[in-house]
Amino acid sequence: MSSPIVAIAADHAGFALKGELSAVLMDKGYQPLDLGTDGPESVDYPDIAERLVLAIRDGRATRGVLVCGTGIGIGIAANRFPGIRAATCTNATMARLARAHNDANVLSLGSRVIGFEAASDCLLAFLSTPFDGGDRHQRRIDKLG
Ligand code: RB5
Repeated sequence: MSSPIVAIAADHAGFALKGELSAVLMDKGYQPLDLGTDGPESVDYPDIAERLVLAIRDGRATRGVLVCGTGIGIGIAANRFPGIRAATCTNATMARLARAHNDANVLSLGSRVIGFEAASDCLLAFLSTPFDGGDRHQRRIDKLG
């Protein structure tokens, strides 16, 4: 069976953490689809978010991870696209509940807010938690659309 693909992208502020999280993905048997940015030069987070959203929308990945300085700007940008539910998380509980209750398909992290350990915990919780499903959660998600 081929490794599940997880799209990952970051602006300049998240570039270093993106590299560390890509290594975690590989270590855990996922295949990172790295959509940049590829260096510390300043870029605009809406452009980066759009890249990742397009990868999800055209089926290159089902889940995505975005990193900027706070996780806020890049998460806001991703959530402007239909079908995207990006959750900005700072701990594993948030990431787990974002999957279980909100069926989040994008995890958004802030490199200036959390360190590698917390980011890695968020990532693993995000990837390992299924959507709880059921009428209650699905009804609420349907109302987002
Ligand atoms: C870039 O300096 C910074 O504004 C960006 O990474 C992010 O934190 C925006 O929300």
